[in-house]
Amino acid sequence: MIKKNKMTSRWMAMAAGATMIGALAACGGSGAGGAGAGGGGEEPQSIEDMTVGVAMPTETSERWIADGAAVESQLEEAGFEVDLQFANDDIPTQQQQIDQMITKGADILIVASIDGTALANQLKAAANQDIPIIAYDRLINGTENVDHYVTFDNYQVGVQQGTSLLRGLGVLDENGEETGEEGPFAIELFAGSPDDNNTAFFWQGAIDTLQPYLDSGVLEVASGQTEMDQVTTLRWSQETAQKRMEDLLTAHYGGGKEQLDGVLSPYDGISRGIITALQNAGYGDTIEDGLPVTSGQDAEIASVKLIDTGVQFATIFKDTRKLATQAVEAAESFAKGEDPEANDTETYDNGKKVVPAFLLESDIVVAENIEPLLVDSGYWTAEEVEAGQGD
Ligand code: BGC
Repeated sequence: MIKKNKMTSRWMAMAAGATMIGALAACGGSGAGGAGAGGGGEEPQSIEDMTVGVAMPTETSERWIADGAAVESQLEEAGFEVDLQFANDDIPTQQQQIDQMITKGADILIVASIDGTALANQLKAAANQDIPIIAYDRLINGTENVDHYVTFDNYQVGVQQGTSLLRGLGVLDENGEETGEEGPFAIELFAGSPDDNNTAFFWQGAIDTLQPYLDSGVLEVASGQTEMDQVTTLRWSQETAQKRMEDLLTAHYGGGKEQLDGVLSPYDGISRGIITALQNAGYGDTIEDGLPVTSGQDAEIASVKLIDTGVQFATIFKDTRKLATQAVEAAESFAKGEDPEANDTETYDNGKKVVPAFLLESDIVVAENIEPLLVDSGYWTAEEVEAGQGD
């Protein structure tokens, strides 16, 4: 609120002839300045004179590489200069990268955080220089200094993950209608990284969808691990997920014990770790051979191939090109001194404020709709799906 007013007046001041570049240069150093909008007398700043700092979490997952590329190219098309950095899933690296963006004179920041609570100092420094901050995909928590949030409807993503698991088990049909199948089916549950704000949304959507079937006994969790805190996967790590799946199999399945039928997985990398553990334990190579059904997220090309070949059951497609467009539109609005368009001003409370958000929709991908959803839209080519690798 205060920030917004400050910002509006800052942009108005700029339109009246003030400039921020001077203020940023004067501030220098680690960005602890607080110079605000600088002295007058110069031309108003146009988009062509502005740099957007884009902080992405990691290049170990395709989705973030695609996000980075899409945001960069669309910002450049709009006329901005771009400073794009990936942080290797390392919090101090991301903090340092954002410090440097501010020092180098970023006018707007777009941030996909690693840990949604670890950037308070950086964002304070940015806010002191009236740099608008757009949270990208992941909300940044515990700070006033986040002005806008572009993301997908994360609760709905979780609902789709739970729904796709139920479809894979045959409890629901492709229209989401109950088939009357009563199981009982043995499942295990995985959640994402505990420091990512999205994790709880995905989890809540999924567990709300599965809970009635857990209550009625159609679904059973032999490990008894049904609380989010028991099933998270730090940094969304494939290896960590594989290890947990191996441990669960050893402790609760096989050797005359129960057979596993399905796994709730929140992300394709985690799904592939789970699938490797299941294949190594002798469950078969494909779902047809007895491999449990697994959900996912992100339509990563390696997983799309696994879905196409009957190994992973489903993923959730979040079109990162559309998210990039939304982020760039928000940046353009800030550049013009306007508030970006929001379609949700209630859900995303970061502990300090409710951050105005723009939420996009996602889709369930199974083998049958890879072509219309992913190939026809140009997200992956048919050759890439076949190869299981991007270009
Ligand atoms: C994103 C997901 C992604 C996950 C792991 C989440 O914040 O919303 O799309 O699967 O991070 O990278």
